[in-house]
Amino acid sequence: MTRSILILGGTADARILAGKLADESGYRILLSMAGRTLSPVEQPVPMRSGGFGGATGLANFIRAEGFDILVDATHPYAARISANAIEAARLAEVPLVALSRPVWQRQPGDTWHSADTVEQAVTALGDESRRVFLALGRQELLPFEAAPQHSYLIRSVDPVEPPLKVPDARYITARGPFALDDEIRMLEENRIGTVVSKNSGGSASYGKIEAARRLGLPVIMIERPPQLDETSVSDAPVPDIAAALTAIRHQLSLLEKRGE
Ligand SMILES: NC(=O)c1ccc[n+]([C@@H]2O[C@H](COP(=O)([O-])OP(=O)(O)OC[C@H]3O[C@@H](n4cnc5c(N)ncnc54)[C@H](OP(=O)(O)O)[C@@H]3O)[C@@H](O)[C@H]2O)c1
Repeated sequence: MTRSILILGGTADARILAGKLADESGYRILLSMAGRTLSPVEQPVPMRSGGFGGATGLANFIRAEGFDILVDATHPYAARISANAIEAARLAEVPLVALSRPVWQRQPGDTWHSADTVEQAVTALGDESRRVFLALGRQELLPFEAAPQHSYLIRSVDPVEPPLKVPDARYITARGPFALDDEIRMLEENRIGTVVSKNSGGSASYGKIEAARRLGLPVIMIERPPQLDETSVSDAPVPDIAAALTAIRHQLSLLEKRGE
């Protein structure tokens, strides 16, 4: 029997996981994207794009399309869709496997300042002019308009349009992974004094954090949003792609045993 897997994506992990599942026969896979990125990379499996209309919409989609399992491989800062996934899996009565990279932990030599929100990160930059590297998405950048005294170097996947209303901002569009040596060079060449980052976890975007440590630069770390509905998660999130594959196979074998 061909099993159907719906993967909520928008991350490199989701793309890699989908590719690995596609290499195994016997699965129908659909990768779902929010549709925010202007030029998404090619995906190894069929894809759909756009919101479902909340948890109920997602549950209806799962039922109507006959999916056996839901996989949440969205970014750890995409809290709304992850909460919807929990609720939709419950409503549609399908197992949910959630993949969430463990947070980066402070290492000796790191100078991190913790911020709960982007606005707090802006405040933490202080009044004096600094040279700041922002590795944030388009949506998160607007609050920095409140601090026009700084010089910004901004790296994002899509161009920042319209540009920020600040006198000194330069833009780089690039998609990770980013190598440590390149990150060190980029920070040095641009005489960056402070890095602002989300705590994404994983290795693809860790280079800038390690580079900041090597160069003795402070990092303003925007903490992950709280899970909106932790109480109803039946299984803890899995930390990496290998564990996600194991959990998916396990859940599908349980369905098999139950004759569903
Ligand atoms: N936030 C980040 O820092 C970040 C970084 C890298 C990649 N991403 C990716 O970008 C996407 C959007 O992030 P966000 O922070 O805006 O999410 P969010 O606030 O959690 O989600 C907002 C709404 O967007 C729709 N949505 C989000 N992800 C979707 C998906 N994979 N498939 C279909 N609909 C989706 C849902 O709409 P409905 O309620 O209408 O279904 C959701 O309620 C996510 O897929 C995420 O993996 C986010």
